[in-house]
Amino acid sequence: MNGQDRRISRRAWLAGAGAALAWSASPARALLAIVGERPLPASVESLLSRMTLAEKAGQLNLLAAAWAGGAAISLNPAGAASSFDAQLRMVRRGELTGVFNGNGAEMARRMQTEAVRRSRLKIPLLFAADVIHGLRTVFPVPLAEAASFDPDLARRTARAAAVEASASGIDWTFAPMVDIARDARWGRGVEGSGEDVLLGRLMAAARVEGFQGSGLSAPDAVAACAKHFVAYGAGEAGLDYNSVDVSERTLRDIYFPPFQAAFAAGAPTVMASFNDLSGIPATGNQWLLDTVLRKEWGFGGLVVSDYTGDEELIAHGFAKDGRDAARLAFLAGVDMSMQSGLYLKHLPDLVEKGEVPLARLDQAVRRVLALKVALGLFDDPFRRIDPAREKARLRTPEALALAREAGTRSIVMLRNEDNLLPLPRSGKKIVLIGPFAGGGHDLIGPWNVYGTDREAVDLVTAVRETLPDATLDDGSDPARAVAAAGAADIVVLAIGETQNMSGEAQSRTEITVPAEQQALAEAIAATGKPYVVLLRTGRALALSGAVAKAPALLVTWFLGSQDGPAIADILFGMASPSARLPVSFPRASGQVPYYYAHRNTGRPNPPGALQPYKAHFRGYPNSALFPFGHGLTYGDMAYSDLRLSSQTLGDAPLTIRATIANNGRMTATEVVQLYIHDVVASVTQPVRVLKAFTRVTLAPGARQDVTFTLTRADLSFIGRELTPTTEPGAFQLWVAPSAEVEGLGGTFTLT
Ligand code: NOJ
Repeated sequence: MNGQDRRISRRAWLAGAGAALAWSASPARALLAIVGERPLPASVESLLSRMTLAEKAGQLNLLAAAWAGGAAISLNPAGAASSFDAQLRMVRRGELTGVFNGNGAEMARRMQTEAVRRSRLKIPLLFAADVIHGLRTVFPVPLAEAASFDPDLARRTARAAAVEASASGIDWTFAPMVDIARDARWGRGVEGSGEDVLLGRLMAAARVEGFQGSGLSAPDAVAACAKHFVAYGAGEAGLDYNSVDVSERTLRDIYFPPFQAAFAAGAPTVMASFNDLSGIPATGNQWLLDTVLRKEWGFGGLVVSDYTGDEELIAHGFAKDGRDAARLAFLAGVDMSMQSGLYLKHLPDLVEKGEVPLARLDQAVRRVLALKVALGLFDDPFRRIDPAREKARLRTPEALALAREAGTRSIVMLRNEDNLLPLPRSGKKIVLIGPFAGGGHDLIGPWNVYGTDREAVDLVTAVRETLPDATLDDGSDPARAVAAAGAADIVVLAIGETQNMSGEAQSRTEITVPAEQQALAEAIAATGKPYVVLLRTGRALALSGAVAKAPALLVTWFLGSQDGPAIADILFGMASPSARLPVSFPRASGQVPYYYAHRNTGRPNPPGALQPYKAHFRGYPNSALFPFGHGLTYGDMAYSDLRLSSQTLGDAPLTIRATIANNGRMTATEVVQLYIHDVVASVTQPVRVLKAFTRVTLAPGARQDVTFTLTRADLSFIGRELTPTTEPGAFQLWVAPSAEVEGLGGTFTLT
């Protein structure tokens, strides 16, 4: 031990830690969103006063874990090679704040031990990971889960993910991804909640609450990181990483609200996005990261760059070299640098030369230390590191049951002619055809660091639980598949996108079913056998031909560990479909970006035939084939008796009631949706905007009233002055089963 090591003995360290714990358990902890600006516990503050510039820069330096090759590297562009031993040396020298996408509790234990025993100041490391939809128990991809229209489900799966992650040494997840995605070409829509602002806000908040559980200091909590700030989903032409040029109004109306919801739910961190915003990269955007985020919203948490996002300012043509990039990103408001190493390399010198104020460096370090305090790491750096607990908590029966439940509740039934579904559980010969009917592939989705397809259950395995004689044909030889279809009573055709066709850097120019599979569907349709299409996808698709016309059509996404069992539950009616599209399925690729909440234009086509000089493509109406909100159940739902508490909405809220009846023969859950349209406004408003939704479960023959409430605040929009505004006047409303059907329509006036 050298002299400095002795200065913080374990006892002294623990005494300080007690104060830190009291602080982290105090009500102030709940306000971490503003806590970065507050005093740290004295013991931690005193660390700050003793840190060298290099040690301060070290607290802002986050790297992909190098242990065992590092999972992060395979999911990101190859970065500077680093070895585990080199990272341990960095830890000892105080050059690393933590690592991400590491390899479990044993790795974390070794690194943390090095930090708290061998580094000069013994500041605990922070372990981050992309826990997007589960760890080893994999839940449906977030877009699929958004289809449940059930924020509570998202809260529960995020909680389960946090329980597994926190037992594996993970303190911080790079999730939720809250980017609104309106261009289906973009591959990363799969990671978010789709096109709608309300659904996006509710899912963002629910996931933050789920990850953080009873509070950040809990050993089973992980800190959330809302990403990617901002408008990453609005890249031109849906190309990943591409330039974004949307108005400030659109940012405030559409892209900001899910972030605000995540912060309101307590997310203490946010990740800057890769894209530029009207020429200013988000990672160097002071207006975004300081004026809006800090000054306007009062966010006091931590801003982390995306993977080499600071360094990419050079390629953007915004910074001249690495030093300049570090300076620009840091001064704009990015507190922590992910993966480039530029902060460690350049910040000490930038401060020494007076190009970056010391106060700014201290501010960023305080934010990092505040996060570590809030996570309880100064109290017990090993609170989430326990190899025995890790084993016990992975893939528990409860978590796998939740994955199956979440799977069934994410499957959207787009069509079901003549009640082809549910399939009979006996007496019929059923053949499963297609590349996704069997085999341990394309089950968990494109963006999962720790789960494996091998550990997930495929469709044929699950179907044979119910129908042991179900046959399988992978569809690779169309003639053989047609023969198999001919010998069966019903065909289940599992086609669509592989999982590597969505996700990061996987934008598509055409959002169609791949050609061979379309051909397979045409061949099967030509046999005349009844067929069910199961559509594997990470995005909205423009469906055509035998797929669009399939007698029964289910969107099955990538459902995770229990993919097959969840689909089988729906196929055989053990569960009734209840999910709804979180993204509109357009009629053709050329329509995208297509979203239901578009504006009317000056020349909308009236209902009915296409008219000349109206807003539509040649031969295609300006509407979806299957709109946002659409999804059928095994019930037969009827909407009636719309009642408004008043014809006007003033200071008192407006209550809207409707009756929903199930005239079918199976119990089912209907997602009832409330949309409005502001008829005349000083800024033109969308044709419809979702304002509320509710789930109602009805037995055959049952009916129930649903009630919605609208307040003045619900009717606000971003006005001329770029602030939330309400304007008196006429509104239309609909209680409807999707965004583009009439449902029950009414009107009222805002006074
Ligand atoms: C790049 C992605 O954009 C981001 O979402 C992710 O968290 C990082 N890589 C780290 O893996």
